[in-house]
Amino acid sequence: MFDLSRRPRRLRKNKAIRNLVRETHLRKDDLVMPIFVNANLEGEKSISAMPGISQFGINAIDSEIELLLERGINQTLIFGLPEEKDAEGSDTWHEDGITQRAVRRIKEKFPEMYVITDVCFCEYTSHGHCGVVDSDGKLLNDLTLSNLQKQVVSHAQAGADMVAPSGMIDGMILAIRDALDDAKFQDVALMSYAVKYSSGFYGPFREAVDSAPQFGDRQTYQMDPANKREALIEAGLDFAEGADVLMVKPALSYLDIIQDLKREFDAPIACYNVSGEYAMIKAAAEKGWIDEKKVRHEALLSMKRAGADIIISYFARDIALEL
Ligand code: PBG
Repeated sequence: MFDLSRRPRRLRKNKAIRNLVRETHLRKDDLVMPIFVNANLEGEKSISAMPGISQFGINAIDSEIELLLERGINQTLIFGLPEEKDAEGSDTWHEDGITQRAVRRIKEKFPEMYVITDVCFCEYTSHGHCGVVDSDGKLLNDLTLSNLQKQVVSHAQAGADMVAPSGMIDGMILAIRDALDDAKFQDVALMSYAVKYSSGFYGPFREAVDSAPQFGDRQTYQMDPANKREALIEAGLDFAEGADVLMVKPALSYLDIIQDLKREFDAPIACYNVSGEYAMIKAAAEKGWIDEKKVRHEALLSMKRAGADIIISYFARDIALEL
């Protein structure tokens, strides 16, 4: 029976008691900071739809990594923009590809930085899709798998600690785990963008890395935002295929999905606080309509509360100052 004499406000009386009963805590160790590395850039170039976030030339990444480490963020996710795009996105598996160069440089200079690589093709292909497409513009699943295998082995050779395939290609986790193990990279961890929705919240990112599809859209591989049970099928497959970490993306509009995965799978759950979620908070704060520090903390805390163990966020670098 419910005790009607209970007064919940007793536990909110002052800071000390509020601190004692707080259920969820955001920590620097929960956060991963994405970094954009551009092969055609010297120095740093800001991204207009993502205030505070830049692309970096290969020589300019050191200061950003130093800043992250100084602030206690020891985890980064690398996105590369190649010198040249082509139909297959071949820069993704070259020893001197942009991601490989960035990883090698970071691991050489800052071995304490844990480096995750985004594994995809959309930033590298002339058509902007996440794999091999045929002449009708159809994404060819199984041909894409062999290119993914080349890509991850090459990232591992460069020194990546973890690879994170984001293309929503069927069978990608099994193919990638096999390729890594065959090449003796059993220690390289695998985080799957297991449940990735076809979302409008990626808008600013596509500007940031110039990866908008030149024709069609991503609805044949990314999930329908209306679907929830399908998320368990996607995550179940990836878990069975050998993913170490399962990710939900985007985060804020999909907290129910984070909660579902946390309940269903004995694996760490990650979520991606994507570019559009970042941009909305930044834009409203710039207009003076919301308090950025308060709102970003609240947003990230909600992801943690829903069950996320790992939060990938463009806020990581700055929110670290308050954690
Ligand atoms: C695909 C990829 C995307 C994001 C991360 N990896 C974009 C897409 O699917 O179009 C989005 C990240 C963001 O919006 O912050 N390589």
